[in-house]
Amino acid sequence: MKFDRFAKLIAGISLAFALPWIFLVIVPFIQGSNLEPVPYPEGQEVDGGIAAYPDPTLYRNGSSDYGRQIYAAEGCAYCHTQVIRPTYAGADMWRPGWGGREEDGLARETQARDYLQEEIAPLGYQRIGPDLSNVGHRITERELMHRHLSDPRSLDPDSGMPAFLHLYEESPDGEDLKPTKKAEALVDYLLSLKKDQPLPGKG
Ligand code: HEC
Repeated sequence: MKFDRFAKLIAGISLAFALPWIFLVIVPFIQGSNLEPVPYPEGQEVDGGIAAYPDPTLYRNGSSDYGRQIYAAEGCAYCHTQVIRPTYAGADMWRPGWGGREEDGLARETQARDYLQEEIAPLGYQRIGPDLSNVGHRITERELMHRHLSDPRSLDPDSGMPAFLHLYEESPDGEDLKPTKKAEALVDYLLSLKKDQPLPGKG
């Protein structure tokens, strides 16, 4: 009799751990790993004639794919997120430029498929700096992007962003900084960050 109650207790505790694990980890994991690109329906025109969402050619360019790895290796995700939260969970959509092209009515929240081409979704740990989901729309010039990485205080004297000088080489006369291959690839990746691709069947 006593043992019976003990067994029930253990079963109850096991269930209390197992159920949330199944529904919060296993089920979303299975749903997330079966995502495929969705082709645009006939008649939906998308800039650049992209055939599907997410753009199947995204990060095929070797350099921006390498840059994606530099982004991970340099720990950019410790200070920068890449997720525009739904409005019930935060005010991201009201921050200028965060959701993407507001003027074209394309600004939106991040969807699971936006990370389909990336091995690891760079969600980020904290937001010391701004969200970078759509930084490719905000900063469009290579030079400016390099300056953000090599000398952020020249753009904003109070910037809390560290200078990533080890990604740059000094020219022989010590006057200029020359980007290394890693810096060029990282900039290719950052310029490509546009997580506001129109969703199939919508605007
Ligand atoms: C210690 C925290 C920290 C780390 C690590 C960090 N950043 Fe930043 N970053 C910031 C802060 C704070 C700002 C805002 C101030 C500014 O614009 O300089 C910023 C701004 C930026 C901007 C300009 C964004 C905009 O919308 O204007 C870019 C681009 C950027 N960071 C890229 C990177 C990349 C790439 C890395 C990794 C190589 C990185 N950051 C690592 C703190 C950080």
